[in-house]
Amino acid sequence: MRTQTHDVLVVGGGIIGLVTAWRAAQRGLRVAVADPAPGGGAAHVAAGMLAAVTELQYGEQALLDLNLASAARYPDFAAELGDAAGMDAGYRPCGTLAVALDADDRAQLRDLHAFQTSLGLDAQWLSGRDCRRLEPMLAPGVRGGLRVDGDHQVDPRRLAAALLRAAELAGVVFLRSRAARLECAADRVTGALLADGTTVAADRTVVAAGSESGRLPGVPADVLPPVRPVKGQILRLRIPPSHAPFLTRTVRAVVRGSHVYLVPRDTGELILGATSEEFGWDTTVTAGGVYELLRDAHELVPGITELPLTETLAGLRPCSPDNAPLLGRTALDGLLLATGHHRNGVLLTPITGDAMAAALTSPDGELPAYAAPFGATRFASRTRERQEQAV
Ligand code: GLY
Repeated sequence: MRTQTHDVLVVGGGIIGLVTAWRAAQRGLRVAVADPAPGGGAAHVAAGMLAAVTELQYGEQALLDLNLASAARYPDFAAELGDAAGMDAGYRPCGTLAVALDADDRAQLRDLHAFQTSLGLDAQWLSGRDCRRLEPMLAPGVRGGLRVDGDHQVDPRRLAAALLRAAELAGVVFLRSRAARLECAADRVTGALLADGTTVAADRTVVAAGSESGRLPGVPADVLPPVRPVKGQILRLRIPPSHAPFLTRTVRAVVRGSHVYLVPRDTGELILGATSEEFGWDTTVTAGGVYELLRDAHELVPGITELPLTETLAGLRPCSPDNAPLLGRTALDGLLLATGHHRNGVLLTPITGDAMAAALTSPDGELPAYAAPFGATRFASRTRERQEQAV
C-alpha cells in the first residue's frame, strides 16, 4: 500500500489536532493530519465559553492557571489565526453573568465567589435587581449573581474552520481517513495505518483524537491514555431581529445541581447547554436531555420558549481522571498526546497549540514549564498498577 512520510502525524482533526498541526507547521515541521472530516469533533457541538473563572472547581487550581493563561492568549491568538486564515476566528469578548435562582444556589454562588476572591480572581457580586438591569430577560426570581467580565466566548465552528484553513495554508497535509491502527516497530511508534489502507510514516505521532484517544488500536495498554467520553447534549436557538438583543453576555446558573448556560452569538444564534452524562459512546439526543435543558433555561430566562429551536445535538467530552489535559510525550518513543481536555477544549486551544509545538521542536521533547504539570505520563504508574493487579 501507498506510504507517506512526515515529521509529525496528528491523529484527529478536531480543534486540538488542528492547532497542534498548524503551530507545528509554522515551526517548519512537515505535518499530516489523519481525520475523515477535519474540523468536526466535539467542537462542532461545543458552546465555546471561555469560562476559566465561572467554571472554577475546588481542587483544580493547577488547571485554573493553565485555563487563565490560555484565556489571556485568546485575543492575540484569534487575531493571528484570523489573519492567517483570511476569516474571522469567532472570538467575542462579552463577559459572563452567573446567577442564582433560589437560596441554595445563592449560598453556593457566594461560596464560589469567596473561593474566586481568595485566588485573586475578578468576579463581582450583584443583587438580583442589578443582574436584571444588566440582562433584562432574566427571570424576576433571580436572587443574585456573579459578574465576571473576563470570561468570554468563541464560536467553535468558526474557530475550527479558521484552524483548518490556516493549517492548509501552512502546508499541513490532510489525509481524509480514520487512523485504523497505530504502527510500532522496535519499541517506537512509526506512524499509523489508515482505514483507506494508506500507511503513514512519521517521526512523531500525536494522538489528538478526543475521547477516541483512549481506544486507538495498536497503542500498548500501558501508554493508552485514560480518557473516557462524557456526553453533552446542547440546543441551538435563533434570536429573530424582533427579539434582539436577547442577551448581551453569557448567562449561566446551576439549577438542581446541573449546569445550564446560554451563549448568545453575534450571528443571532443562542446556544443552550449542556448535559453532562457518563453513558459511554452514546451520542443520542434524548427527550429527557432536551426537556431538562429547556426546563432549567426557562427558569433562568423565561423568554427562550418564544425562540425558534434550530438544532439539537450531542457530543463527547474527552475526560481524564483529573479533568485536565494530557500533553506531550509518552513513555513510548515517537508517541505524544494532546487529549483529555474535558470541559476546556475550546478554552485550552491556544495554549495547547503552543505547548505541543514547543514539545515537538525542543531538542529534549519537554513541555514548556506552564504545561509541565499536564504531562501525558502522569497516570502511567497508576495504569501499570491496575494491570499488575489484574494478572
Ligand atoms: N465547558 C462547557 C461544557 O463542557 O459544557
